[in-house]
Amino acid sequence: MADINKYRPDDKRAVEALYRRVFGIDAAESSRLRWDWQYRRNPNNPGQEPEIWIAREGTTIVGQYATMPVKLSVKGREVQASWGMDVMVAPERQRQGLGEILFRTWDRNVGASLGLGLSDSSYRLFQKLNWPDVGPVPCLVKPLTRRALRRPNWPVGINRLVSAITLPIVLIISRARPVRAEVRLVQRFDDSFTGLWETLAPKFDLAVRRDAAYLNWKFASAPHVRYSMAVARREGRNIGYAVYRHLHEPRGRVTLLVDFLADPDDEEAFRTLLNWVDREARQADSDKIRVFASHAAFRRALRKSGYFQVKSTMEFVLKINGIDVDPSFYENTESWHVTLGDSDQDR
Ligand SMILES: CC(C)(COP(=O)(O)OP(=O)(O)OC[C@H]1O[C@@H](n2cnc3c(N)ncnc32)[C@H](O)[C@@H]1OP(=O)(O)O)[C@@H](O)C(=O)NCCC(=O)NCCS
Repeated sequence: MADINKYRPDDKRAVEALYRRVFGIDAAESSRLRWDWQYRRNPNNPGQEPEIWIAREGTTIVGQYATMPVKLSVKGREVQASWGMDVMVAPERQRQGLGEILFRTWDRNVGASLGLGLSDSSYRLFQKLNWPDVGPVPCLVKPLTRRALRRPNWPVGINRLVSAITLPIVLIISRARPVRAEVRLVQRFDDSFTGLWETLAPKFDLAVRRDAAYLNWKFASAPHVRYSMAVARREGRNIGYAVYRHLHEPRGRVTLLVDFLADPDDEEAFRTLLNWVDREARQADSDKIRVFASHAAFRRALRKSGYFQVKSTMEFVLKINGIDVDPSFYENTESWHVTLGDSDQDR
């Protein structure tokens, strides 16, 4: 029978070795580069220590559940929550109930347990344990060049044909639109973003608290990727931000609009940011822009700006423990704000 208790600094080597066995050398190396930032420097850690649960059999570590604490706004009330992320059980001990004990220990100790972008095995375990499943976070794509619609699994000839047929539409969608309001690039988020979050939080039925401390940790000091951060301003005030980066994928270049915030009722503010990101994506020679967005008003604005909804694989499960919510709460996600910037999805 395993004991489950908190991570201790001298567990580091054994946990790294288990991670290599379960996820492979490359994933383990990239996790090692992020680890200190991701687990130790999170400004929302309740006790300044990583929130990681370890399963031990004697002196052997046979599993872990590593989490990312966040403050979650639920219908205007704040709940101490956490994203469950690096969960693993030693291969020879899987399917014997250890995962379930780890999931339940985590859940008992947090006001809301959240999971995003799950592996097949963890998704099934969440289902088995009856975590509410609200379906994947919608994904939208805006094509910018004729290469945008290529698929790695299609033969070259088909890809060329699709590019040629869709070119006229792509040219119309991707035409440049002027950026009307003031937009600035910033290196860090100043305290006014905490004020912006506090003004906007009541507009979302569910969203992670995006205050300055969180934003700077998550996007200005991430060690594994470099983000651009643009801020929209009106009458001398910050009214929203967009966090994005450009990368190469097997069939072309993509701009990821990773996270954003604006008043969902202020379409002009969000569309100003979208026009800015369009311009930046074109300058970076991207073939398309990709974004994940759960809020209906943001998705409406995205569609008006030339984005199309495509299949999403970013599954989202969550369970609110800290306050009473009606079962119907999980059915209407139209005013929830969840993006690719949540959890540790953008690795
Ligand atoms: C996810 C994981 C931690 C679960 O731990 P576990 O100790 O095997 O889980 P339990 O024995 O408590 O629960 C088993 C249940 O989980 C699900 N499950 C676990 N492994 C599965 C697999 N390979 N395929 C399908 N379902 C699986 C099933 O619902 C299973 O129930 P069943 O045995 O009645 O069919 C473990 O499978 C693991 O380490 N996986 C590899 C790493 C991983 O994918 N981590 C998640 C990253 S998001």
